[in-house]
Amino acid sequence: METIHTVEWMKQVARQASGTGRLLGLVPTMGALHEGHLSLVRAARLECSPVVVSIFVNPKQFGPSEDLQKYPRRMEADRALLETLGVDYLFAPTDEEFYPRGHRTYVEVEELGRGFEGRARPGHFRGVATAVVKLLEIAQPHCAYFGRKDAQQARIIRQLVADLNLDARLEICPIVREPDGLAMSSRNVFLSPAERCAATVLYRGLDAIRQEIARGERDATRLVAALRRLLDAEPLAAVDYAEIVDAESFEPVARLSGTCLALVAARVGATRLLDNMLIEGDRGDGGTLHTQL
Ligand code: PAF
Repeated sequence: METIHTVEWMKQVARQASGTGRLLGLVPTMGALHEGHLSLVRAARLECSPVVVSIFVNPKQFGPSEDLQKYPRRMEADRALLETLGVDYLFAPTDEEFYPRGHRTYVEVEELGRGFEGRARPGHFRGVATAVVKLLEIAQPHCAYFGRKDAQQARIIRQLVADLNLDARLEICPIVREPDGLAMSSRNVFLSPAERCAATVLYRGLDAIRQEIARGERDATRLVAALRRLLDAEPLAAVDYAEIVDAESFEPVARLSGTCLALVAARVGATRLLDNMLIEGDRGDGGTLHTQL
């Protein structure tokens, strides 16, 4: 695996791949890799060669009171993991290389980025969208791989790729969970043992409403109330939001129909955690719903 630190070098590799008709796969990450990231790498390896993984802790997506300095950085361990998975290139630019002095251009996706994470973390999606557009422009992937745990981020990226006529195909891969259901996240390392136990409440809450849906419940308002009750019962978790939204508009729905997402965010100790469940298949005819946690 070759490590690339400069934008120019990364562009050259991308040009070479496209010139020889090879399909470049890109897995954008901020490092501190876990099984969730590795599942994206494996998906990329099945379809693409070469595979590029970017590791860049993007300062523009952290607010002034957020955990940029504390964000876990484990470059050597990450590099070793990527080697074992047969990744071809690691793109790891410095902050100055990625955002040279005088950088002034930002990408903002209207509407979709206002609620939920956008409300809790003002400026976050502007930073994400800016970094992702730059990564897609630099690496020119045939396909880029993202996780569904950050469902709002994935929806925003899908929108910007369409709006800006970018060529990359997007693959949104399933959430990877710990054996007790906790969604994998680089921030899980910050949880104390007691918080780690409490953190499963996000999964338990979603799983409880999954069972309600399987029993035939279609009233989203009742499902959200049940989800909230479960989350509120966990003293170590401070719930930020629990909602069922239309998967396209991210607007709350009153009844399950079309494709929806149940979204939860909670602070457990000082750590903010996200989770979601995909609900799809009902065409308003009372048919069976398929849920994916
Ligand atoms: O999901 C992430 O790790 C980041 O938000 C991303 C997509 C790499 C952009 O910095």
